[in-house]
Amino acid sequence: MGHPAAAVWDSEVATALVKDCNGIDQIKLRNPHGASAKVSLYGGQVISWKNNQGEELLFTSSKVNVKDPKAIRGGIPICFPQFGNCGSHEQHGFARNKIWAVDEDPLSHSFKDSNRKSYVDLLLKPSEEDLKFWPHGFELRLRVCLGLDGNLTLISRVTNTKEKPFSFSFAFHTYLSVSDISEVRIEGLETVDYFDNLSERERFTEQGDAITFEAEFERVYLRSPNCVAVIDHEKRRTFVIKKDGLPDVVVWNPWEKKSKVMADMGYDDYRKMVCVGGAVIEKPISLKPGEKWAGRLEINLANSSFCSEPLCF
Ligand code: BG6
Repeated sequence: MGHPAAAVWDSEVATALVKDCNGIDQIKLRNPHGASAKVSLYGGQVISWKNNQGEELLFTSSKVNVKDPKAIRGGIPICFPQFGNCGSHEQHGFARNKIWAVDEDPLSHSFKDSNRKSYVDLLLKPSEEDLKFWPHGFELRLRVCLGLDGNLTLISRVTNTKEKPFSFSFAFHTYLSVSDISEVRIEGLETVDYFDNLSERERFTEQGDAITFEAEFERVYLRSPNCVAVIDHEKRRTFVIKKDGLPDVVVWNPWEKKSKVMADMGYDDYRKMVCVGGAVIEKPISLKPGEKWAGRLEINLANSSFCSEPLCF
């Protein structure tokens, strides 16, 4: 155990460095009330987030093969420089399958952050191999913070470090743990337009007063409000997701049939998860040389299945 360089350590808000079974570093964040989070250098992926009672709040598939070094099905994979599958490029981009570094020289943040928190800064730069597939000079930074109240904040920043402009998409593909998908209701996306990936990305407008789940669901909500509530009636709790710089929201559940053909999804696992995450998909970000972009996602847990306006707006 040790202290990663670019991480905050004091007696109350603390970080620790551990290794997974493949020898890859993981950074554990904890707060004085018992909440914790774990971030892997594999993909810069948050792989655990627990509340003060030690309950896991992020989903991880029961069929994850920890010895297989690829993005774990669960947690919060980072999708960059693309979301989905375009052309010959890797589905959801390469960032989630790269080894990141602890960022020794983090840039100052334009987003406001609470004072007392445990955090770590990570960095991904392209290797020679990456440049063959995506020939752009970039630095992708990620700050993961665990607040004193147990909230989880992810701030991502991309810098164009070379002479040519480039464009990219981005998503925090957040797998939330839920009691049962049939008990879940999402508020905050009413009247918002979406692409339905199950209907060849046809564009519709959300008509319901909330989203509920009865079948496979694969949508990208476009230019949505910056606060979305995921209400779990059985657990009597609500995830309040706030975002900045991330106009779109991905909502996904593979349901039974698709799960069966996914090698890393256990039987019935789909019932225990829903992906709801901030993203930039409809209008990719374009960066000229030297330009920077930042996106922020904050998830709070409210112990109530009552929503929504007092929590969000
Ligand atoms: C969703 C996509 O966001 O991510 C699905 O809409 C995809 O099509 C899913 O299956 C998971 O992707 P992956 O690459 O992690 O299996």
